[in-house]
Amino acid sequence: MADTLTIRRPDDWHLHLRDGAMLAAVLPESARHFARALVMPNLLPPVVTAAQAAAYRSRILAALPEGMEFTPLMTLYLTEESDPEDVAAAARDGLIAAVKLYPAGATTNSASGVRDFGRIRPVLERMAETGLPLCVHGEVTDSSVDIFDREAVFLERVLEPIRRATPGLRVVLEHVTTAEGVDYVKSGGENIAATITAHHLTINRNHMLAGGIRPHYYCLPVAKREAHRLALLEAATSGHPRFFLGTDSAPHTDAAKLAPCGCAGCFTAPNALSILAELFGQAGALARLEAFTSLNGAAFYRLAPNEETITLQRGAPVIHPARIDTAEGPVTVFDPGFPLHWSVTP
Ligand code: DOR
Ligand code: ZN
Repeated sequence: MADTLTIRRPDDWHLHLRDGAMLAAVLPESARHFARALVMPNLLPPVVTAAQAAAYRSRILAALPEGMEFTPLMTLYLTEESDPEDVAAAARDGLIAAVKLYPAGATTNSASGVRDFGRIRPVLERMAETGLPLCVHGEVTDSSVDIFDREAVFLERVLEPIRRATPGLRVVLEHVTTAEGVDYVKSGGENIAATITAHHLTINRNHMLAGGIRPHYYCLPVAKREAHRLALLEAATSGHPRFFLGTDSAPHTDAAKLAPCGCAGCFTAPNALSILAELFGQAGALARLEAFTSLNGAAFYRLAPNEETITLQRGAPVIHPARIDTAEGPVTVFDPGFPLHWSVTP
């Protein structure tokens, strides 16, 4: 195995940067490695309007340390009241790169999400006309559906009807976690792609639940059984152009994670690339890492890939900090559970 690998600077097509003190603490962790990131809008209150997205973008840029370069690509949080004209204007102005659909109640800060999918038809039609991608949190919220089945059921009950009703709509199935999701994207044609996280490529549900519960592995969609992890790994390492990296790095303080009702999210910004290099190396697919981290996403979003490069170096196991300090409290960094030999040099 080669000991160095130079690739175009990666982009993160699904990132939670939060706001305020948390934003200040986590932003450098992404900006160190990634040139651009698609920034999720699930703040409290959510980023619903173009004006809110512009203000959030300014707060992100203001929090960026001197000398670091990073481009936040903004998203709007879709609600049943979203105005198709506001969305279209934000896209036309280059302010947003996508719109995010959270089914109401699916995850962190999703209370303002969508309950009645019929009510977002006008926005989706406008998006189909303009080519603006819809990023979906693909899980049903029906309490009678088992949490491990919620993604597969979503494809059938929600996503397929939406796509049939709105031909031409471009969709990213975010953080895909199942073989059904992978197959759906592979067979779904040019207008559908998926992001895959580093943590879903690393853990299955046993890692979270067998031999003791590990709250830092709890995220949504929840990790599934091993066969699904292997399907994700195959999709990511295959070079298929419609699968690309979205870390879904989602910081929560340890106090919020280690609680009787703990928050969902894995904080992977610091070590996602080391983890991916390790997994792609094990799969004999290092030559396809760049496609996954730096080319496929940009192509789907109709942006040029980054010109700058990063170099990954293989050596003795790299020790990443176990946690980072924030003014809100410590945030634990995702532990892949195996040694990481690749480090990133700028
Ligand atoms: O694990 C998750 N955390 N999944 C999500 O969909 C949201 C995210 C968050 O914002 O914490
Ligand atoms: Zn997310």
